Amino acid sequence: MQQRTLGRTNRPVSVVGLGTWQLGADWGEVTESDAREVLEASAEAGVTFYDTADVYGDGRSEQLVGAFVAAHPDAGFTVATKMGRREEQVPANYVEANFRAWLDRSRRNLGVDTIDLVQLHCPPSAVIDDDATYDVLDRLVEEQVIAAYGVSVETADQALSAIARPHVASIQIILNAFRMKPLDAVLPAAEAAGVGIIARVPLASGLLSGKYDLDTTFAADDHRTYNRDGSAFDVGETFSGVDYATGVEAAQEFTQLVKDSGLDVTPAQAAIAWAWQLAGVSTVIPGARNVAQAQSNAAAGDVVQLPPPLLTAVADLYDRKIRAQVHDRW
Ligand SMILES: NC(=O)c1ccc[n+]([C@@H]2O[C@H](COP(=O)([O-])OP(=O)(O)OC[C@H]3O[C@@H](n4cnc5c(N)ncnc54)[C@H](OP(=O)(O)O)[C@@H]3O)[C@@H](O)[C@H]2O)c1
Repeated sequence: MQQRTLGRTNRPVSVVGLGTWQLGADWGEVTESDAREVLEASAEAGVTFYDTADVYGDGRSEQLVGAFVAAHPDAGFTVATKMGRREEQVPANYVEANFRAWLDRSRRNLGVDTIDLVQLHCPPSAVIDDDATYDVLDRLVEEQVIAAYGVSVETADQALSAIARPHVASIQIILNAFRMKPLDAVLPAAEAAGVGIIARVPLASGLLSGKYDLDTTFAADDHRTYNRDGSAFDVGETFSGVDYATGVEAAQEFTQLVKDSGLDVTPAQAAIAWAWQLAGVSTVIPGARNVAQAQSNAAAGDVVQLPPPLLTAVADLYDRKIRAQVHDRW
């Protein structure tokens, strides 16, 4: 698996990482043994970057990732966690005492003294724009509570604000064939500044695998059931904010384009390769609910450069079917 430097962390990470929200909660049941197998299968396939958060299963994901990393002390893994969603997301909560308390809990969950990378977990814009946020984070780096910090964002404007800060190591943002806005300004700005880009939701919550249809149902405790209207968190995190029927239709067209390209890859692998092959992207973090998905996604790190006609056709699909719903919103 190809490695790239993750921005100002200066750490090498695999171009395909693993998102571990699924190993916490919110995606239907994933048992602990399945979760452990997903982590092991990813490592065997060359994945060295693992993204988690303190709220995924209220610490379950962090604990599973921590135990897994402890079992592979020489593997050179990088673990990124996130903080800021254990309290109401209002600026008054993004203060030093809370940062310290959240990080102490994550350090215990992960079993480490110093966290490789902590990301603010989609905070309000006022927090991203506030000097005081970065003053505290810089102090926490000095004290080696964290080795580096980044910001997970919802919008391109938030990404640009964070990229302009001198010590922000990485930005995490939704980037996939149904979310192309970051190509306009965010990727060039990150590349110029040496800030890493962690591309999340590369499969548009599974849509880009092409396997769902209008009759597909998801478990009651899966956000693809309960957050379609954005009632639990930003609607952009569920199917990238594309309404389900439009997403299914566009995903079927995406599947056909991949077939027509003659490449021997699944639509999900093409979607992941599309993201990691963009200039400026450091790593792509598909979520996997089982070993087969983890293996297939990791193998997308070896996909040859997608041919220009396929890239053009995917951009055209976005313009025709998706752009109007998402481009100016995030
Ligand atoms: N605010 C934030 O910072 C934030 C928000 C969202 C996500 N994230 C991070 O980004 C990661 C990835 O995003 P995501 O999990 O939301 O979305 P995603 O990676 O686009 O989609 C994951 C889903 O796609 C399906 N899938 C995965 N691999 C597949 C394969 N090879 N073939 C067919 N289907 C496959 C699975 O669902 P089924 O098995 O049910 O089909 C899986 O649960 C998360 O795990 C998390 O670490 C961060």
